[in-house]
Amino acid sequence: MLAPSSKYFNRDDVVKIYQQHRPQYNKDVSDKIMEFVRKHHNSEEPYDLAVDVGCGSGQATSLFASHFREVIGIDCSHRQIEEAKLGNKFLNISFLVGDAEALPFKDKSIDLIFTAAAAHWFNLPKFLNEASRILKPDGCMGLFSYCFPKVGRSLKDAESQKIDDAIMWNHVWKHISPNPPTEPMLKYANIFKNIKAKHKERNDEVKIKYTWTLEQIVGLIKSYSWYGAYLDMKMKSVERNSPNAIDGLSQAFKQSMGVEHLQDSDVHLEIEWEIFIVLATGLNHTGQNE
Ligand SMILES: C[S@@+](CC[C@H](N)C(=O)[O-])C[C@H]1O[C@@H](n2cnc3c(N)ncnc32)[C@H](O)[C@@H]1O
Repeated sequence: MLAPSSKYFNRDDVVKIYQQHRPQYNKDVSDKIMEFVRKHHNSEEPYDLAVDVGCGSGQATSLFASHFREVIGIDCSHRQIEEAKLGNKFLNISFLVGDAEALPFKDKSIDLIFTAAAAHWFNLPKFLNEASRILKPDGCMGLFSYCFPKVGRSLKDAESQKIDDAIMWNHVWKHISPNPPTEPMLKYANIFKNIKAKHKERNDEVKIKYTWTLEQIVGLIKSYSWYGAYLDMKMKSVERNSPNAIDGLSQAFKQSMGVEHLQDSDVHLEIEWEIFIVLATGLNHTGQNE
């Protein structure tokens, strides 16, 4: 049985916007995870198999291709897996449809299990149970995700960044998602607390940074599940013909920058995500399925 979230992540509009507008990770993320793997790998054997659970359209999978003999991406959405296969350029990467709570791997067969922006969607006790079962005794787990990004004309200029952040996030929480979702960073603090392992640590140092157009930033907002919930609510509401809140966001940005005459695709902003990584080895959840 596929996870309930597969319904949402199989929607064509969700898959498309997700693939176009979610950030790619950089090598700093895989370097941090591989540093941990190297520290805990006990044998002379090379790293064999890594699994990316909740791989989506493969945003993080390829980062590990050069470190392992084989990397397998797995996701409960067959549409995400189709996109991942289409975009794959590596012979040692393959993709499968499946659930984080019932992973199709033998006991003690995996060197690294990792998840990117996905663990908060899983039934965590069941996933941790599966991770404990399939990891080799010295195998490692790396769960990473990102916070809501900082946005600014120049992120080095703290004052203008505060103004731009306020335009973006105040607008979003006021007009699009009146009950702000829990900051992902907090969620992973909870995940971290619940991991039973011989050794666990977290790393909050990695950042990914791009220059994006306002059009891309608006696309990012549209890729969040709470934007989908806003659209569903709007469809049912009598206000469905009122101006779209997302147009208000892009107008407010352009006004503050004095560039109302420009297209969103011609307005450039810096955008930065803090990545947080939860690392563990010697997981001890087997048989504790709740
Ligand atoms: C927010 S996306 C992250 C995708 C990608 N890893 C990234 O970093 O952008 C979450 C992904 O987890 C998948 N997912 C959610 N619950 C799942 C589950 N229980 N088992 C497998 N995949 C799951 C969704 O289908 C979706 O593709």
